[in-house]
Amino acid sequence: MIYVRLIGHNFQYEVYELIKVFYFGEEIFFLEDLNQYNEGLLILSRLIETNEGLKASTEIYKDNSLVSKEFIIEIDRIDVDKSSTNKKIRIGIKQSIYDALNNLSNIKAPWGILTGVRPVKIVHNLLDENKSQDEIIHTLTSEYRLDLDKAKLIMDIGKKQREYLYPLDEDNFSIYISIPFCPTRCLYCSFPSLNINSYIHWVEEYVDRLIYEMERIKDLMGKRNVSTVYIGGGTPSAIPNKQLDRIIKAVYKNFDKESIEEFTVEAGRPDTIDGELLKMLNENQIDRISINPQTMNDNTLKIIGRKHSSKDIINTYYQARQIGFDVINMDLIVGLPSEGIEEIKNTLDSIRELKPENLTVHTLAVKRGSKFINAMDKYKVADQNTIEAMIEQTQIFANEMELFPYYLYRQKQMMGNFENVGYAMEGKECIYNIKMMEEKETVIGLGMGAVSKIYFPKEDRIERIPNVKSLEEYLKRVDEMVNRKADALS
Ligand SMILES: C[S@@+](CC[C@H](N)C(=O)[O-])C[C@H]1O[C@@H](n2cnc3c(N)ncnc32)[C@H](O)[C@@H]1O
Ligand code: SF4
Repeated sequence: MIYVRLIGHNFQYEVYELIKVFYFGEEIFFLEDLNQYNEGLLILSRLIETNEGLKASTEIYKDNSLVSKEFIIEIDRIDVDKSSTNKKIRIGIKQSIYDALNNLSNIKAPWGILTGVRPVKIVHNLLDENKSQDEIIHTLTSEYRLDLDKAKLIMDIGKKQREYLYPLDEDNFSIYISIPFCPTRCLYCSFPSLNINSYIHWVEEYVDRLIYEMERIKDLMGKRNVSTVYIGGGTPSAIPNKQLDRIIKAVYKNFDKESIEEFTVEAGRPDTIDGELLKMLNENQIDRISINPQTMNDNTLKIIGRKHSSKDIINTYYQARQIGFDVINMDLIVGLPSEGIEEIKNTLDSIRELKPENLTVHTLAVKRGSKFINAMDKYKVADQNTIEAMIEQTQIFANEMELFPYYLYRQKQMMGNFENVGYAMEGKECIYNIKMMEEKETVIGLGMGAVSKIYFPKEDRIERIPNVKSLEEYLKRVDEMVNRKADALS
C-alpha cells in the first residue's frame, strides 16, 4: 500500500495516475489526515504560498523516515500553459512528484509526467503556437520530463500527421463501424465482443439495425462528406461474408463513394479469413485490411487462445497479396506471456519476409475485463528492461523495413510504461488512425459499443458519445443512439 497526503491542492486524479507509473499494480490510498499513517511509503505533496510565489513540494517517507530530499518546483518558472495558473500548478505538482519518485525508484518513466493517452497532441498544440522543433523538444524534455528519444518520436509523428490533418475541413467526417463478434476470446483482450458461435443467429438482425443507424446518420449529416471508413471490432471477418458485404454496400449507397479517401476492414484473425472473403473485400474496393499475427510463435499463439498458427498467418497473407491488396497491416503485441527477446526476434524475422505496408506494435496492457488479469500469476511475463529491449528490436526492425512511425497512443494499464506505435511505409499511413487519434475531425461510431466523437473546431474540443455496450440494448435502442448524436451535432 502506498499512502499519499495532499496539502493545499486537490489534484488527486493526476497524482494517482503518476504514482501508478512508478508503482504499477500497487494500491494507492489518499489520507485525509496524517495521523492515519503508521508505516509504509508515504508521499507528501504540498502546494505552498510563499513570499516568492507558489511552490509545489514533494517529500517521501518510508516507515516514518524521510527517504527522499524535498523536491520543490516554483510555479512561476513553468514555461508551458502560461495563460492558466491552474494548469501551471497541476504541471508543477506533477513535476515535483515525478522528480522525487524518479530519484527514489529504479523504475523508468520514459514519458515523464505525461499519463494521458495521446501525447502527440502536445506537439500539435506547440506547432500551432508556431514553436520551432528545437523549442518543442526542449519543452517536452524539460517541462514534461520526457526521455529525449520519446520526445523525438512524437515530434516526428506530429510533423508527419499534419499533412493529413490540415487544413481542417468541417464538412468532412469519418465513420467507425463496430462488429462485436469473435471466434474465441483472446487471453489479454477486453474489447466488447461476443462469441460468434453462440450469437450467430443474432448477426442478421444486428446488421439490419446497424444499416438502419447508418441511414439515419446519412439524413443527419446532410451534405457532409465521408473522408474515411473503418470497420473494426471484435473481428469483422467473423460474421458471414454476405452480412459484411451488406454493410460495405450500405456505406456506398448512403454516402458519396468518390469522397471516401480510405476504406479499412480490420479482417483481423487469420482463422476467419478465406479466399472468398478476400475476393468480396477486393471487389468492394477496400483499400486496407489487417491480418494480425500478434506473435509468430506457435507456442504463444496457443497460450493466448488464438485458434490459428503462424503458418495460417503466412498463407492468408500471401493469398491477400495474390488477390490484389496493396496495403496490409499487421498487429503485434510486445510482452505476451512466455515471450522475451528471442521470441520477438523470431516474430520480426517472419514478418520481414512478408513486407507489410503497415505494422502496429502494441505493448501488452493488463486490462480489467480480460481473462489475463485474473490469472496473471499463472503466466511468465517479461520485466520492464526486457520489454524495453523488445520494443527496441521492433524499432530497429521498422527502420530497416522503411516503416516509419505515424501514430502513437498510450494505455493506462500498459506494462512497463511504454506505448503503442503504428508504422507505415511512406505514403501508406492509415488516415483514419491519425484522425481518430488526434481528434481533429468528427468520427461517427455505428453499432454496439462504437464511440462517436463530435469535433468542434472553433473550441478545438470533442464530445464523446458512446453507443451502448450490450447487444440486446443496442438492438432495442438504436433510435436513442442516433438521437444522442443528433443532440450533440445540433
Ligand atoms: C480490437 S483488436 C481487434 C483485432 C482483431 N480482432 C484481432 O484480434 O486480430 C485490435 C488490436 O488491439 C491489440 N490489443 C488488444 N488487446 C490488447 C492488450 N490487452 N494489450 C495490447 N494490445 C492489445 C491487438 O494487437 C489487436 O490486434
Ligand atoms: S484480440 Fe481480436 S480476436 Fe481476440 S478477442 Fe480481442 S477482438 Fe477478438
